Amino acid sequence: MKDKLILGIETSCDETSAAIVKSGRTLLSEVTSTQIDIHRIYGGVVPEIASRNHLQMLPYVVSEALEKADITIDDIDAIGVTYGPGLVGALLVGLSYAKALAYASKKTLIGVHHIKGHIAANYLQYPDLEPPFLGLVVSGGHTNIVHVRDYCDIVTLGKTIDDAAGEAYDKVARVLGFPYPGGPEIDAHAKLGKADAIAFPRVMLEHGSLDFSFSGLKSAVLNYLNSMDMKNIEVNADDVSASFQEAVIDVLVEKIQLAAKKTHIKKIALSGGVAANSRLKERMTQMAEDNGYMLYIPQPKYCTDNASMIASCAYYELMCGNVADIYLNAVANLPLG
Ligand code: KG4
Ligand code: ZN
Repeated sequence: MKDKLILGIETSCDETSAAIVKSGRTLLSEVTSTQIDIHRIYGGVVPEIASRNHLQMLPYVVSEALEKADITIDDIDAIGVTYGPGLVGALLVGLSYAKALAYASKKTLIGVHHIKGHIAANYLQYPDLEPPFLGLVVSGGHTNIVHVRDYCDIVTLGKTIDDAAGEAYDKVARVLGFPYPGGPEIDAHAKLGKADAIAFPRVMLEHGSLDFSFSGLKSAVLNYLNSMDMKNIEVNADDVSASFQEAVIDVLVEKIQLAAKKTHIKKIALSGGVAANSRLKERMTQMAEDNGYMLYIPQPKYCTDNASMIASCAYYELMCGNVADIYLNAVANLPLG
């Protein structure tokens, strides 16, 4: 079959990104303009500011992605764009741009689910990876265990009932006085601390559950910091980081292992910003080795938000016949599957 060139567009949070991917697997170009430095001043993403910056940057980002791939819009077969979940104003910028461009250039439009996009980052990294496999998507907004039965057939086996893993990282980092985004900061500080210094809770929920809950852990860290403050005892931020991180990772490792045992699937693909975490990678690698599982983890820059994963996912949606029209709308809490 003839190769298909997909232009991917991602604006669901604080990265303005465009990429050209060939047939879901080969990255030709990606241009990403990050807003992290802008939002850092406020300690987190300010939705209104995110939308405005997407609007300002997206035309340049798309042109540069085409230029870098040495093609024009005429060479593109389809445009894939994230339409949810995410910040609705931010999503609308990318979606409106993609719709206008698809209409004007008479290209097929494909709506991409952001979580499906994260999973597809693995297709770029591992050319031989094919469904079925288990996915653990851990990002700032999501913590999902999914069964990828086929490229377009993804079933959620478990998800967070409150905070996402990355959200917990960011909130704990904030109270420790680390800059946004907190995940990489905690990752670095944890390397200097003791993971068994403070006994934070591992919330497993009911027996056999594949759901997650991280808000209790976040409160436990806050309570610990408050009690130390009241007693005038200086806190060792490295120990708090390491102990908090180990509690998160114990739960993630335990639950994905349980999912593998339940489903008898021996292929596990991580994705999402938290999958860039060095300790998670270490623990997952050990767990996979102990159990004889195949483990897939995208390189850090494809764990966090990017348009390459959106373009890859869009190719498979196109192959499945899931194309959109001009009425496609942005959905902030778009369900998976
Ligand atoms: O996938 P992503 O870029 O955006 C969402 O879809 O949410 O993930 C961002 C999240 C943030 O919470 C950030 O703190 C976290 O991923 N993150 C990390 C690391 N790098 C990014 N968390 C832990 N360790 C890291 N190295
Ligand atoms: Zn994301």
